[in-house]
Amino acid sequence: MKGILLFCFLLFSTPNFSKDNNNSLQNEQKLAWFKEAKFGMFVHWGLYSLLEGSYNGHTLPDTTLANGRSWYAEWIQMRLEVPSSDYKSLINEFNPIHFDADEWIKEAKNAGMHYFVITSKHHDGFAMWDSKVSEFNIMHTPFGRDIIKELVSACKKQGLKYGFYYSHWHDWEYPGGALPYWFDKVEDEKFEKYWQEKSLPQIKELITLYDPDLLWFDTWDEVSHITEKRRDELIDLVRNLSPKCLINGRISYYNPGDDIDFLEMHDNQYPDKILNKPWQTPATMIHSWGWHAKDFNWKSSDRMIEYLINNTSKGGNYLLNVGPKADGKFPVPATRRLREMGAWLLVNGDAVYNTYPVSMETPEKVYLSQKTIDGNHYLYISIALPLETIILPLPESNAIYECEVLESGRPISYKQSSEDVKIDIPSNLYKDSSVQVIRLRISKPI
Ligand code: GLC
Repeated sequence: MKGILLFCFLLFSTPNFSKDNNNSLQNEQKLAWFKEAKFGMFVHWGLYSLLEGSYNGHTLPDTTLANGRSWYAEWIQMRLEVPSSDYKSLINEFNPIHFDADEWIKEAKNAGMHYFVITSKHHDGFAMWDSKVSEFNIMHTPFGRDIIKELVSACKKQGLKYGFYYSHWHDWEYPGGALPYWFDKVEDEKFEKYWQEKSLPQIKELITLYDPDLLWFDTWDEVSHITEKRRDELIDLVRNLSPKCLINGRISYYNPGDDIDFLEMHDNQYPDKILNKPWQTPATMIHSWGWHAKDFNWKSSDRMIEYLINNTSKGGNYLLNVGPKADGKFPVPATRRLREMGAWLLVNGDAVYNTYPVSMETPEKVYLSQKTIDGNHYLYISIALPLETIILPLPESNAIYECEVLESGRPISYKQSSEDVKIDIPSNLYKDSSVQVIRLRISKPI
């Protein structure tokens, strides 16, 4: 009898058990590229790019307001109260004659980015692809070319993963789509109509036409129309159409559930600890995401490299935004920064890509990462501030075999004790780049 019971138990429990195992294995495999990649390009581009942050003699502020609200250039229609007919008529002007998908993707690749995410539809409701669901799309502009299609083929050609931002909640064009907080909340019934007639069908269209590696959804308020039911309905839709497509946590920022693939931080938010799920920070080079000709708050490439290594050291990714101009060109200050970051990654990329975080106390502005290559274990110390000595709790029990500057191979002297290691940083190291990386070969991973 006991034997029969055991048999039944095994019969009924084993398939579930292995299914779970399989699922987590599949999840690991699906997420592997994202975890290795660390650095991606975000692009905010659409009809708002034509207005460049100003309308009717008014210019959007280039900083966060005292109340913490951000007046981004892609929000211009709502922030500067552009009449809807004026805004919609921009469709007759959008003609980015200099747009070259291969050039953009080449720039992303040279910057050391491993994936690319573009706004397929932002809150204004305008689709950047040949959508059969809504006529408010790129094919009805004088340009008349499917931008998403061209970028997808450039990404495939040049070996970058790609994904789409899709504003599933806000839609200022379609009746029932959510509107900013200073409007009355859209009735749920009307939202449901938008949800069924535009949001879900367009997402389905994006997946079936372009097979993205990632979908980037956007919510930020505690209360939105994205209830658990709608969140799960959308997750099911994506999962049924594409087993590989990753879903970000902003599908429902305050209640993402367990089925999303990675957490999405708030805009320009940098966690100071290792998180227990893959994550990423969406980040700007200026204040706005969409092109704003009078926003001059360009962050230096050194600062952005520091954000990147901060995130790397905590197991997260850095998705850095470019707001192209309406003619299809990247702003020159963005290009300079992309190239500077690319040059830095060319020599220091080992400390970033495919690394794991290290749980260890570090001095301020010192960031750690680690990985194993061909059986050798490496610890990378990225230093964003000139320091004479660094002390780390890395005792002799984890012996150091080599200690050198990653870029040049210059040997660095150190003293290891039973408690820690003292590393001497040569004073002339900081002359040409403020973020330096020291590589240690150690006897075991940390
Ligand atoms: C916010 C903004 C939006 C921008 C996004 C990027 O949600 O509403 O304009 O696209 O953040 O992270």
